[in-house]
Amino acid sequence: MKDKKNTGKQTQATWGGRFSQAPSRLMLEFGESVSFDSALAEFDIQGSIAHAHMLADVGIIEKSEYSQIKAGLEKILKLIRAGEFEWKTELEDVHMNIEQALTSMVPCAAKLHTARSRNDQVATDMRLFFKFAADDMQKRLKKLIASLLDLAKKNIFVCIPGYTHMQRAQPVSAAHHILAWCEMLYRDIERFKFVYEGANVSPLGSGAIAGTTLPIDRALSAKYMGFVDEDGDPILTGNSMDAVADRDVFFEFAFACATMGVHFSRIAEDVIIWNTSEFAFVKLPDAFTTGSSLMPQKKNPDSFELMRGKSARMIGSLTALMTLVKGLPLTYNRDLQEDKPPVFDSFRQARMCIDVLTACAKEIKFNEKKCAEAVGDPLLLATDLADYFVRRGVPFRKAHHMVGEIVALSEKTATPINKLSDEQVFAICPEASSDWRDVFDLKRAFAMRKGVGMPNPELIAEQIKNFSQLIKQ
Ligand code: ARG
Repeated sequence: MKDKKNTGKQTQATWGGRFSQAPSRLMLEFGESVSFDSALAEFDIQGSIAHAHMLADVGIIEKSEYSQIKAGLEKILKLIRAGEFEWKTELEDVHMNIEQALTSMVPCAAKLHTARSRNDQVATDMRLFFKFAADDMQKRLKKLIASLLDLAKKNIFVCIPGYTHMQRAQPVSAAHHILAWCEMLYRDIERFKFVYEGANVSPLGSGAIAGTTLPIDRALSAKYMGFVDEDGDPILTGNSMDAVADRDVFFEFAFACATMGVHFSRIAEDVIIWNTSEFAFVKLPDAFTTGSSLMPQKKNPDSFELMRGKSARMIGSLTALMTLVKGLPLTYNRDLQEDKPPVFDSFRQARMCIDVLTACAKEIKFNEKKCAEAVGDPLLLATDLADYFVRRGVPFRKAHHMVGEIVALSEKTATPINKLSDEQVFAICPEASSDWRDVFDLKRAFAMRKGVGMPNPELIAEQIKNFSQLIKQ
């Protein structure tokens, strides 16, 4: 339906020039992104100030115009931060909302979009966002590791069975298990460092697709936004087409979140199992568990179940992003507007997972009695008995077989393995001597593990120290 008063020119002051009809209400609703990309406001304003600064430096706009534009943008930023800015759906996105609000305050801001397109603008905003987000994730992960290290420190001497195939395998300590989580999370920090590096390249000045005929200085705006290397030299994208079409850093960020999500899901599953009545290795804080509406006795580990569940969402976001970009012709296509919700969702969910686990880690209590009962099973040291036979000169394969026979005998006679008689053991392994039972001394078993990364309490204490240093950097 035609609305005479509302022509395209009036509604869309930025691009309405060639239109005689306003976009349909349905199209506005369908095409808007301001409902989610307003989250980019800080970065959009930072980019616009840098762009205007550069335009003034090269003489495309007056210095006084730059000052007015900057002051106007800062005013708008204040309004946005205070929640007093009026976002308008009909202005489509964060870029046009800010630009039009600015132009109505500062008429010379009509020059701000000189030598710029929303295509290089949104690519720039997102790169600024990724630098912020990757940095934020690293800081939060470091806090999480710090609280896990505290938990490990408290539990260096709490021994638990380690599991393979969900079967008791060999003894470890709670601290050793927690340090395994720290290793996973530290790799996540490294992954976010890589995301930061990937994002640290300025696409601004690439225009819509083919740059500009105006004499801009891309290096200057890059410097103003902090797209620089360790020597302070600007880092610029090398091709104007790739600069507006490329979404690799979106994948890299989503992948880092999804991988972290998978790590969280495994950590959560460990805790959920430990928290069952059957295991009862840990007690979880009331503040992060919930009750049942029907069964009054229940205390459910919902926080950990949600951590496990959120990973599905983060994997979904990565899949959505790669599917979105797959097969898109160069360069910008409006499909790319859909690249933001999965990224923002991954960021939000990943952040919350980290914060919840950080808070929980401070309060998880190990039930030493239950852990001691579980780890007291002497069969957990069957491999150490094989090692003992090896030290007495038996080849490992043969030693493995002998211990297998001893285990079968212990089962058949319903005698704990370490309570079998010397004669019974010597009959199977003539190389053994009467000190074979020393193998089942747990403390000794740990002390004998001297290699890097093994569950020896001294090594673990050392590792906790090293990790604490590492996360201070
Ligand atoms: N809101 C748009 C997006 O996020 C900004 C870029 C629009 N560019 C265009 N050529 N329509 O993708």
